[in-house]
Amino acid sequence: MDRIIISGGHRLSGALPISGAKNSALKLMAASLLTEEPLVLENMPRLADSRFMAHLLAHLGVVAEEQPGSKLKLEGRALESTTAPYDLVRKMRATFNVLGPLIAREGRAKVSLPGGCAIGARPVDLHLKALEALGARIELSEGYVNASAPAGGLTGARIVFPFVSVGATEHAMLAAVLARGTTVLENCAREPEIADLADCLNAMGAKVSGAGSPTITIEGVSSLHGATWAVVPDRIETGTYAMAAAAAGGDVTLTGVRPAHNAALWADLREAGVTVEEGEDTVRIVRDGPIRAVDMQTAPYPGFPTDLQAQFMALMSLAEGASVIRETIFENRFMHAPELSRLGARIDVKGNEAVVRGPAALKGAPVMATDLRASVSLVIAGLAAEGETVVSRVYHLDRGFERLEEKLSACGAVIRREREPV
Ligand code: EPZ
Repeated sequence: MDRIIISGGHRLSGALPISGAKNSALKLMAASLLTEEPLVLENMPRLADSRFMAHLLAHLGVVAEEQPGSKLKLEGRALESTTAPYDLVRKMRATFNVLGPLIAREGRAKVSLPGGCAIGARPVDLHLKALEALGARIELSEGYVNASAPAGGLTGARIVFPFVSVGATEHAMLAAVLARGTTVLENCAREPEIADLADCLNAMGAKVSGAGSPTITIEGVSSLHGATWAVVPDRIETGTYAMAAAAAGGDVTLTGVRPAHNAALWADLREAGVTVEEGEDTVRIVRDGPIRAVDMQTAPYPGFPTDLQAQFMALMSLAEGASVIRETIFENRFMHAPELSRLGARIDVKGNEAVVRGPAALKGAPVMATDLRASVSLVIAGLAAEGETVVSRVYHLDRGFERLEEKLSACGAVIRREREPV
């Protein structure tokens, strides 16, 4: 297993390229199950999570071929299986999204329930209710969802989500594109990844409108064809490196981004005293002076993303004053707080609220984390800390950050990866 070693206290400067969005790429990959023709994804991030997904798709009969220039060709000419076994689903929740496309194309599927994860229980009840509303028969047995479509296939329906869910909105879309008739989804998630999936499905011949708004309408079609689609830039990677630059200090330009997708973060960074200059597809982050404490609460898009909460906490540990951070999406997403404290941050957690008292003079230490975004918050703190920080369990980082140490080193960070001694 690898670990990352950071020698902190170096300012960051230069250009840092942003990859395609992990959380979009995984659902776009699932869309390849909906057609016999090739789906070519451009701007594909090379991550452990996309490899897990490719592994599951290969098991189902979709041939994946990595092509030069960050491209991935997926071709599911004839599917070989409609079963997604526990071993291939438990490692990553997004694999559960193959259920809807399999029912839509093959009329049946058996997919392992994904179970909980470190950040919370994360049930899939909304996913299953949406599929049932489209006519799927669903039975749960021995940890698996056994699902089948009626003889004539799935049929369009009106589905009102009781609360906003990214995964359930995407899953309903992935199933409804091939249903007979019209589906209207209400109270949908509005994350940019939802519009990316809808636009890709439309490029494949689907008829989806309204994605990015609370109401999405889908006119079912009888089949989809192949397409070439570029994955939307990763707004979480963008926000992460913006906060790394703010924490370490310096002048960094993030390239290949959609600045508008991080509006909530830019507002908070500006309030904290960081200069944010938005270009057409670039964002320049400059921080020379002190950081001011800012209160923040996570919310569904366009609110502040839960996937940037840990990184924001690392930044706020360096700010002058007290910052109150509220997590409203996941019930157990403060596991980074004790690890940040090991570096000298002063954080009190009560329920879903954390009070961060700064400015802390962070000092390097060995740390480890239990999930992807928590791990990268420790990298951010390590960049700003005096001395050496060793981040273990790097496999979490590899799930969602492509070439992290290479991108940061190119901007002047002193960071390296090495094999963990046994
Ligand atoms: C997606 O998860 C992302 N994952 C998460 O990113 C992200 O944190 C989350 O959206 C919120 O933005 C992927 O896209 C692969 P939800 P998802 O359904 O779809 C509850 C990362 O670090 N809920 O919007 O699973 C759920 O427990 C990851 O990249 C139900 O109760 O999130 C949560 O409290 C972590 N029943 C809330 O809804 C359901 O059926 C929102 O979850 C579905 C969700």
